[in-house]
Amino acid sequence: MMKMKKTMLLITAASALVLCNCLCFFSFAAEVESCVICHEKTSPGQVADWKASRHFREDVSCSDCHGENHKSEKDADSASFPDEQVCAECHEDQFNQFSKGKHNFGWASLNALPVTHVEPDELMEGGKGCGGCHNMGIKTKAQKKEQLDKGYRYQNNSCDECHTRHTFSKKEAQDPKACRQCHMGYDHPQWEMWSSSKHGTRWSARESNRLPKSASAPSCQECHLPEGTHENKTAWGFLGLRLPLPKDPQWAADRVTTLKALGILNPETGKPTARLDVIKAIDLIRLTEESWQKEREKMINTCKKCHSERYVRKQLEMGDSMIQKTDRLLAQAIDEVAGLYKSGILVKQDNYLFAYPDFFYYMRTGRGNLKQASYIEQVLFQMYFKHRMRTYQGVFHMNPDYAYWYGWAMMTRDLTNIREIAQIMRATHKIKR
Ligand code: HEC
Ligand code: HEC
Ligand code: HEC
Ligand code: HEC
Ligand code: HEC
Ligand code: HEC
Ligand code: HEC
Ligand code: HEC
Repeated sequence: MMKMKKTMLLITAASALVLCNCLCFFSFAAEVESCVICHEKTSPGQVADWKASRHFREDVSCSDCHGENHKSEKDADSASFPDEQVCAECHEDQFNQFSKGKHNFGWASLNALPVTHVEPDELMEGGKGCGGCHNMGIKTKAQKKEQLDKGYRYQNNSCDECHTRHTFSKKEAQDPKACRQCHMGYDHPQWEMWSSSKHGTRWSARESNRLPKSASAPSCQECHLPEGTHENKTAWGFLGLRLPLPKDPQWAADRVTTLKALGILNPETGKPTARLDVIKAIDLIRLTEESWQKEREKMINTCKKCHSERYVRKQLEMGDSMIQKTDRLLAQAIDEVAGLYKSGILVKQDNYLFAYPDFFYYMRTGRGNLKQASYIEQVLFQMYFKHRMRTYQGVFHMNPDYAYWYGWAMMTRDLTNIREIAQIMRATHKIKR
């Protein structure tokens, strides 16, 4: 694309004697200058970033991305904000890879959750909460319109999340800190786990020249965006759930219990609900053995660059069997809370699908008709979203402390707490009557 543009300029310059072409050439040059001259005063930091970028050297200017409609301080509303399609004009490969990866589902999965639509807009469309990390993914026309209608003009682009504007630097995106803002904290502390693991430690040691530049030290990118691809996906995904059900009967039963608490299976009939379609639409879990295996083998191939195949297969198998063990603890806790519904001590809420715990409503604002979840359910949600995830994410990221103390140990404590709270609820319920 750029090459085309340059060629056009050359042709234009060469035929400068032809009046029309001559005007085209000068008007283009003048426009670039006006944006830059003016913005050098109004927002000098942005112009400095752009001047330090590869784009500057390649003659990609402000108007290539923002259009030419806005020309003065009075019409700033006419400046357009480039979406991913604009980047795709010159970076088709990266755009196509990104489109096939999980990052492209960030906005869709956020919007698929009912809870999103009752939370403050500032935190969603405004990007100050969930929307600040889930602004990953190409928005549909309808989603863009909804955003504008609510008065939010920004956040139109996923491509400035790792190589930020206006430097758009490849080096910045290769640094694991580029992933940190989003992959940290409550239910996905991959940054904390990786940076304090041996993998992360070696990476930092190499950065500070304590290891030779040739030393191997895998970064997030090396494992998840290998060879510079923009397509990302893992075998187990975020929820540590997949289909088909495992062969082991106890594990299969435990996974079914979790699928019921997610409202994907009807707790009474065991049949799939409409939520299964939602899960499919956002590629939330791998639905076939093949699709899971494909991601697993890709990962093993990456590990094999630095370890023996037998070694890494064993490491990842331990992650799988820890998922099995967390499922056992979780299913017992779900059963305990489901029992309270059964005996009428907990009552089904309007927004719930069934008289059964509903993980899709794990966060409640108390706004509108939604009530806060009962305390025992909040302990259950935390067991699932925070502690269960930390257990297997910690194993997969070679972090013993997250896997044990922040993960497994907390899950066993949650189960004890849930049992004791249930006991108290049953006892005081009788007293009330
Ligand atoms: C005469 C000065 C001037 C010129 C020329 C100019 N701008 Fe601006 N531009 C401004 C001012 C002033 C603002 C508002 C800044 C603010 O809110 O702090 C602005 C805002 C913007 C915005 C942000 C709009 C928003 O809603 O936040 C973009 C993007 C932008 N300009 C790009 C450009 C591009 C591209 C060009 C060239 C085609 C250009 N500008 C030419 C002065 C100028
Ligand atoms: C390669 C494409 C590209 C180029 C070139 C580019 N921008 Fe941007 N710019 C973006 C993107 C992407 C955003 C964020 C859009 C969003 O969030 O919706 C943005 C946002 C902005 C904003 C509003 C947000 C903010 O941080 O203030 C301003 C102002 C702006 N650009 C000015 C400029 C100016 C001036 C130039 C030239 C010196 C320029 N841009 C060149 C892609 C570009
Ligand atoms: C008019 C064409 C054009 C547009 C539009 C464009 N780029 Fe580029 N970009 C280039 C060229 C040319 C290069 C030089 C390297 C190459 O050919 O890939 C480049 C390089 C890059 C690099 C690598 C920088 C480095 O440090 O090596 C990144 C990252 C990048 N662009 C991101 C973006 C993003 C994000 C957008 C959209 C907001 C965008 N580009 C829009 C033409 C464009
Ligand atoms: C702006 C926030 C943001 C940044 C920056 C970011 N991610 Fe993500 N990432 C997300 C979100 C949100 C999801 C979940 C997408 C969805 O909803 O499907 C995700 C999903 C993923 C997944 C897929 C997990 C699965 O379900 O299989 C991987 C792997 C991943 N990111 C790696 C990275 C790496 C590596 C980097 C840095 C190079 C990075 N991410 C930077 C927000 C971000
Ligand atoms: C700090 C950034 C951040 C915030 C804030 C955040 N998320 Fe996420 N979210 C992520 C990342 C990163 C992932 C992928 C994590 C993984 O795979 O381990 C994710 C995963 C998800 C998923 C699963 C997507 C999938 O297909 O795997 C859903 C649904 C989700 N988040 C909804 C929400 C909701 C709703 C909120 C606000 C109440 C929220 N998130 C707040 C970063 C964030
Ligand atoms: C999750 C983080 C992330 C997001 C989101 C992202 N990139 Fe990148 N990008 C990277 C990384 C990492 C590299 C460096 C790849 C490498 O090591 O070769 C890169 C490199 C690039 C390059 C330079 C390629 C080269 O070899 O010179 C371009 C161009 C680019 N990205 C465009 C895009 C576009 C367009 C989008 C949006 C569709 C996008 N990126 C979104 C992480 C990201
Ligand atoms: C040595 C390779 C390696 C490195 C480095 C690495 N990961 Fe992972 N990551 C994995 C493996 C293995 C899994 C589990 C894959 C599976 O589901 O089988 C995983 C899973 C994930 C997931 C999905 C949920 C989960 O945690 O299980 C996300 C998101 C993720 N990694 C992000 C990151 C981020 C961000 C970084 C850097 C801070 C990072 N990873 C560093 C290997 C790595
Ligand atoms: C780029 C090279 C590289 C890649 C890729 C890589 N590792 Fe490592 N790994 C290392 C190095 C180097 C060490 C530090 C060895 C030590 O502790 O003595 C290490 C340490 C480990 C450790 C901790 C060993 C210990 O003694 O505490 C485990 C477990 C591990 N890696 C598993 C994996 C798995 C599983 C993958 C793929 C998901 C992987 N590694 C990918 C280089 C790599």
